[in-house]
Amino acid sequence: MRKRMIAGNWKMNETYTEGVALAEGLAKELADGTGDVDVVVCPPAVDMKGVAEVIDQQNAPFALGGQNVYWEEKGAYTGETAPNMLTNIGATYCIIGHSERRGYFGETDEDINKKAKALMAHDIVPISCCGEPLEVREAGKHVEFVVDQIKKDTEGLQITDPSKYVVAYEPIWAIGTGKTATADDAQEVCGAIRKTLAEIFGQETADGIRVLYGGSAKPNNVAGFLEKEDVDGALVGGASLKADSFAAMVKAAM
Ligand code: PGA
Repeated sequence: MRKRMIAGNWKMNETYTEGVALAEGLAKELADGTGDVDVVVCPPAVDMKGVAEVIDQQNAPFALGGQNVYWEEKGAYTGETAPNMLTNIGATYCIIGHSERRGYFGETDEDINKKAKALMAHDIVPISCCGEPLEVREAGKHVEFVVDQIKKDTEGLQITDPSKYVVAYEPIWAIGTGKTATADDAQEVCGAIRKTLAEIFGQETADGIRVLYGGSAKPNNVAGFLEKEDVDGALVGGASLKADSFAAMVKAAM
């Protein structure tokens, strides 16, 4: 059975000092544990070590993730972070292919595929994002668009443990806009993602891969998404920046 997952994407928010305080607040909110739910926080790179220390010192029930990675091991790649730099400070997850990285920084499906391979070689779980822009949705081509992303992003991956590869479906028009997809919209695409994963990796593997929904997910709507068969959790932006609202989403998933 798939364990539910609630992952927080802090994006470019929270200084080191603020990030440590947010992690401490979250540790307090979740002091009674998270039941069967995997919880991940993905702070900005410069905050990660501080959050790792909070997790360690408070034995906090959440894991640490990066927001991006580069696929090379080391070298002259100014501004980038290598996979072993993430593992060295205790990160076990990393978001890749977020629509903001695709849109603002020109990331391609080929890049995302290389990043997934590099992460998996270091035993870091990719949280690989996909999702369509508004015009594609309005043209009714969203399923086709996302299926194509999934095929390219997973090309040549070896998934031996399906709990170690996560997909996040985030329709771009619903990110940070307050405009959520309905639970049925999410199910339509998440179901198509699982079907595609089954065609590529076999049904058993596809049944073990978590598919998250993201895009204006909030404490008051997350339960509706989680009721859907192929939605296994949420990737949360704005609502992950307050310890109480993020913890409320974890509790709604428990
Ligand atoms: P949002 O962001 O929850 O603020 O819409 C989600 C995301 O981009 O991961």
